[in-house]
Amino acid sequence: MKAQIIDGKKIAADIRQELEPRVAALTARGSKPGLAVVLVGDDPASLSYVTAKERDCEKIGIGSFDLRLPRETTQEELLALVDRLNNDDQVDGILVQLPLPDHIDADCVLQRIDPAKDVDGFHPLSLGRMLLGLPALLPCTPQGVVEMLQRSGHDPAGKEVVIIGRSNIVGKPLSVLLALKRPGGNATVTVCHSRTRDIARLTAGADIVIAAMGSPEFLTADMIKPGAVVIDVGVNRVEDPQAKRGYRLVGDAAYQDLLEKASAITPVPGGVGPMTRTMLLHNTVCAAEARRA
Ligand code: GUN
Repeated sequence: MKAQIIDGKKIAADIRQELEPRVAALTARGSKPGLAVVLVGDDPASLSYVTAKERDCEKIGIGSFDLRLPRETTQEELLALVDRLNNDDQVDGILVQLPLPDHIDADCVLQRIDPAKDVDGFHPLSLGRMLLGLPALLPCTPQGVVEMLQRSGHDPAGKEVVIIGRSNIVGKPLSVLLALKRPGGNATVTVCHSRTRDIARLTAGADIVIAAMGSPEFLTADMIKPGAVVIDVGVNRVEDPQAKRGYRLVGDAAYQDLLEKASAITPVPGGVGPMTRTMLLHNTVCAAEARRA
């Protein structure tokens, strides 16, 4: 069996097309949506992520405000910037790219963002509302994974899902979304992590396995049951002197190995990544519609 390749780029393009008339309607009544993207320091991976996010905005008519701050920026200066963006009526969404330098308390900064503009869905209020199943801005990667499953014909309802990884950005919120009593949810969810005794025993029983722990090609074919669906959230740079930039991107799943055993799998790149970026646009449009209603 050769697995169905779940095309994140195509699904993301469909969603962006659905967003375009909503952006146009907001713009037509003088409320063009705007996203502020804040990057502290010059980490090359972070820089490439934020540049891509800003380009995505421009392509569908969302205004982007690019804020680049030096590594030495103090916490007070960053908090002052967040306050200014909270009060700027042109700004519907605020994204502070993580990780932040060690001298800055990321939790403190994320909690300063106005929850109405929290397009990353990382504010405790957003996460609490999500947990309760109330309307909320949802974290982009978990939301993207759920959309991807639904739109590729793999509705999680009634399925056994194993997530490897318990990060605040992916594993933890995704486990909540998939278990919620709502469309895209209703799954039975297990979360594995570094202290899980036998990960392979758990993944071997799963209908859907989601690899999100940041370990290159960790999930292999011997760990899944035949016909399982594999969602790969990992993006790892692995040194490769033959590659154009001296590295290549690999996921947390051993793609080639799994192709023969899974019934469906997401590639890296071109899988979850484009979905995450598109859900950011989705959240920005939702935030703009709510703020400017
Ligand atoms: N760093 C890695 N992923 C993300 C994300 O989704 N949002 C932000 N703000 N930073 C990140």
